[in-house]
Amino acid sequence: MATSCYYDEMPVEAEIPIPDVVSYSKDIQPLWDQDCISCHKPTATSPDLTAANSYLALTKNNKYVIPGNAAASSLHKSLLGEGAALMPPAQKWSDSKIALVDKWINAGAPNN
Ligand code: HEC
Repeated sequence: MATSCYYDEMPVEAEIPIPDVVSYSKDIQPLWDQDCISCHKPTATSPDLTAANSYLALTKNNKYVIPGNAAASSLHKSLLGEGAALMPPAQKWSDSKIALVDKWINAGAPNN
């Protein structure tokens, strides 16, 4: 596939496809594994985003995720760096990664 890229400043993060039905285990957890669990793991920074613990850590008491309401969820604010420290701290995610997480939350944040 031919794409054109411009690397004038920081390399822009690749946009990713958004599936019709977002799977927590197949679509979301791999993002945590890739970009978050170096810091967010058991006995380290909350929330614990490792596979065995992340779903409960995010959804318990609506602490980080409010099912059906991405805009009000603190996880969404962390990914935007608006009203919370930007996550991941090093570089803001591509719009499509944030949109994927938002779509999962707005679909009711299923543990699928
Ligand atoms: C380099 C280490 C590091 C990485 C990588 C990282 N975080 Fe964090 N995260 C932190 C630290 C430290 C805090 C504590 C709060 C702060 O910095 O203000 C935190 C806090 C948070 C919080 C809680 C914010 C709050 O208001 O309570 C969330 C949610 C979060 N991170 C999500 C993520 C997600 C999702 C990723 C991956 C996309 C990620 N983090 C990647 C270090 C990291």
